[in-house]
Amino acid sequence: MSRYRIEGGRRLVGEVTIGGAKNAAVAVIPAVVLSDGPCRIENIPNISDIFVSFDILKALGAQVRMINKTTVEIDPRTICSHVVPHELARNMRASYYFLGSLLGKFGTAKVSLPGGCNFGVRPIDQHLKGFTALGASVPAMIENGMIEATATQLIGNSIYLDVVSVGATINIMLAAVKARGITILENAAKEPHIVDVANFLNAMGADIRGAGTDVIKICGVPHLHGTTYSIIPDQIEAGTFMAIAAATHGDLLIKNVIPKHLESISAKLTEMGAQVEEIDDMVRVTMDGPIKHCNVKTMPHPGFPTDMQPQIAVLLALSDGTSIVTDTVWENRFRYVDELRRMGAQAQVNGKVAVFEGVPMLTGAPVKAYDLRAGAAMVIAGLAAQGITEIDDVHYIERGYEYFIEKLRAVGAEIRRVEIPSPFARRA
Ligand code: UD1
Repeated sequence: MSRYRIEGGRRLVGEVTIGGAKNAAVAVIPAVVLSDGPCRIENIPNISDIFVSFDILKALGAQVRMINKTTVEIDPRTICSHVVPHELARNMRASYYFLGSLLGKFGTAKVSLPGGCNFGVRPIDQHLKGFTALGASVPAMIENGMIEATATQLIGNSIYLDVVSVGATINIMLAAVKARGITILENAAKEPHIVDVANFLNAMGADIRGAGTDVIKICGVPHLHGTTYSIIPDQIEAGTFMAIAAATHGDLLIKNVIPKHLESISAKLTEMGAQVEEIDDMVRVTMDGPIKHCNVKTMPHPGFPTDMQPQIAVLLALSDGTSIVTDTVWENRFRYVDELRRMGAQAQVNGKVAVFEGVPMLTGAPVKAYDLRAGAAMVIAGLAAQGITEIDDVHYIERGYEYFIEKLRAVGAEIRRVEIPSPFARRA
């Protein structure tokens, strides 16, 4: 077991380079299953969710070879199983993308119900509705914790999503890309990683248009070929470092970003008094004066991302007034607020709404990471707080932030990973 120990109160200054996008990579890697040849994927983030994706591919029979720290070569031609076992799927929400890619390639897929961060009910009814519309049969009942989808021939169809879902949009694209005929997906999600997955599939020979708008048209093709592809930079890792710059009243030059993907985050930080400067593929964030209070409402892209909600809330907890945060995407994403209260934050939660009364200072405390982004929020709070913060359950944070400690230390943070002996460890 590990925890992070942070001595807060330092102003962070310097440069940080952002890695590949987690939420794109966890979809692009399963998409390789659809290829008839090897693929080389570059700008892979060094995070535990990616290693789980590789383990799933290997369990299916694919060859996975790291060329260097950020490039992987995957040969799916040796895949001989269509089953993603529970021991692997339970570690990662995005394991459900193997349903779409295995179904699209082999007409059969069996995947254990996915795990991942727990912020409320995470249904996949829209994914299954899409598969069914394409002609797959999906049992009405989940048996032994496994979801199975089969089809002799997938056929394109018109599909209207009842809710805007990132996962369903990508999963339906994966299943439809080799289907016979045309699929029109309406009310699709528009996140940057959806465009990235579509670009990757098109690089393999797919015919997908409209990704990034709410109507995606997929003309099925019989074969997809191997390709080389580079994953986009991680919008949320970049946003997290932007929040870190502001919370520590620091000055960070954040490199390898796509500023357009950061617009909603930049706009909020500017409203809160930060200076945000876009320079080509970099963004510089500085914060001099007090943090101004404001309201934040999360929305599907291009709205403010729910995956940045806990991190921005730390700034609001330290702002000069009252702020209302509404998460319209997830029903239970405020559990971290209890931990912030332990550090002196004043906040009330009522369902999908949290109200923060800004305080001038947080103080270090022992806290835990409830999930990936909640854990990132604890790191930000610890960096901004006076005194020592210890964060437990950091395995959540390491699902999505590569070299987090190293990147933070390089800009002046006093943070280290501490191994804690298991209470069950046998004494010598
Ligand atoms: C993805 C991201 C996650 C992010 C979320 C919203 C990945 C691996 N994860 O999660 O980090 O927080 O997008 O930006 O990319 N819903 C249904 N039925 C479905 C699917 C979703 O009702 O079949 C609802 C969910 O309960 C939720 C909303 O739709 O309220 C959005 O979920 P969705 O966009 O699917 O999130 P994920 O793809 O799981």
